[in-house]
Amino acid sequence: MSQKPEDFFKNIISHCKEYGYIFPSSEIYDGLSAVYDYGQYGAELKKNLREYWWKSMVQMHGNIVGIDSAIFMHPTIWKASGHVDAFNDPLIDNKDSKKRYRADVLIEEHVAKIEDKINKEVEKAAKRFENFDETMFRSTNARVKEYQDKIDAINLRFKTALNDNNLDEVKQIIVDCEIVDPISGSRNWTDVRQFNLMFSTSMGALSEEGNTIYLRPETAQGIFVNYLNVQKTGRMKIPFGIAQTGKAFRNEIVARQFIFRMREFEQMEMQYFVKPGTEMQWYEYWKTARLKWHNSLGLGTDNYRYHDHIKLAHYANAACDIEFKFPFGFKELEGIHSRTDFDLKQHEQFSGKKLQYFDPEENKSYVPYVVETSVGLDRLFLSVLSAGFKEEALEGGDTRTVLSLPPALAPIKCAVFPLVKKDGLPELAEKIVAELKFDHNVIMDEKDTVGKRYRRQDAIGTPYCITVDHQSLEDQTVTIRDRDTMKQDRVKISDLAKILDEKVSWKSLLKQL
Ligand code: GAP
Repeated sequence: MSQKPEDFFKNIISHCKEYGYIFPSSEIYDGLSAVYDYGQYGAELKKNLREYWWKSMVQMHGNIVGIDSAIFMHPTIWKASGHVDAFNDPLIDNKDSKKRYRADVLIEEHVAKIEDKINKEVEKAAKRFENFDETMFRSTNARVKEYQDKIDAINLRFKTALNDNNLDEVKQIIVDCEIVDPISGSRNWTDVRQFNLMFSTSMGALSEEGNTIYLRPETAQGIFVNYLNVQKTGRMKIPFGIAQTGKAFRNEIVARQFIFRMREFEQMEMQYFVKPGTEMQWYEYWKTARLKWHNSLGLGTDNYRYHDHIKLAHYANAACDIEFKFPFGFKELEGIHSRTDFDLKQHEQFSGKKLQYFDPEENKSYVPYVVETSVGLDRLFLSVLSAGFKEEALEGGDTRTVLSLPPALAPIKCAVFPLVKKDGLPELAEKIVAELKFDHNVIMDEKDTVGKRYRRQDAIGTPYCITVDHQSLEDQTVTIRDRDTMKQDRVKISDLAKILDEKVSWKSLLKQL
């Protein structure tokens, strides 16, 4: 059933709360802005996504190992990495609405609106294709060119302003583009200021300046500072990778769009250490490999696109995002960055320790270059939910809400229903659950009619439901129903373990990589 994108997104958010996926943090105290808790099903789905990423990175690559570094790190690490001085967002306030915005986001959204105009022109032309004459062609072309020129001019000015750290020019672009505050509708803007995104706290009993430590804004630095430990103890040969998943914290200026932009979130990052000069080849390799990984989830190839960065971060010589078509448009899901030898060199300089690699083939030592893949687990979660959430019209005027999650990732793999709560059916159902639960997350559900139980499991995203009926007592068979097709097959109870293994195994996903 089609619905407006904003309604669709609202429905996903309320579905998450109603079915135990995601709750606002500290809800009984009216919540905490941009912080969320994962409920009983959300925690399972998140764990499965993390596990799929870990298996495909670590288990499937002989030259990638995983670590788990601490959130608290020596404060000098953040000085060395550049985060203390440069991990800033340019912010701007509207004096009338008193709302705060990221100046770069205001400009990017303005450019996206012009891009929309181009798309509309092209769509209009395609619709009138049959009787499209020379004059129409010329005027469409002229309008598209005019819009494209505008976009190019803004992007160029913006890129130059950011590279020069010229905040007055960033404000001037906002003024010249006549960007208005979406709330007050006014153009009454303050100057643009830089705002550091790191949270700080103090360690130990004394809250003196020297005790200030930061909550890590990325997990990557925990990998860099352990590079030599892992390389030596694991006898790793270049190229090799170190992977890690864990919490990261950013004091986002504009934290909104549910779990898309949070102040506490989880990253899954991998740093790939390579020989200097080969980094672009590995950058291209990981760009392709990571898109393939996302496609293996089966959410639709049209839902992804690459976006090359206009402004490179202080550590990168090439960078792009894999964007996903969220309900609010295409947005960053994962970043692929060629980080050069910036981080390791900085840590060498600030720590006074050598962080080099002796290359036996070259017979020399060097600081490796690094290609990084960095995906937000919460954004990945949102991508899976928004592609899988459907409200379907059924025959007979009924409707159902279904979460079509990839079966291997679903929180509950299978629900077992005794048709009625008597005649020995619950006992047989329990026996089936007891058998299957060693390998899979399987539950028993005996409340309400079977129809209602199917709806409940559809909404949770359970891919298979097994019904135990009176025939089961006679011939030891049950029905197994597929969530997406709603088709039911009768199968032998003794075959259930094998059938389920095949349908929900990680292998089906991993084999596509
Ligand atoms: N180590 C590189 C790095 O941190 P990034 O592009 O700033 O790069 C990587 O972040 C990924 O982390 C993003 O692609 C996004 O998926 C996720 N992410 C970043 N900020 C986030 C936030 N505030 N809330 C949720 N996810 C976030």
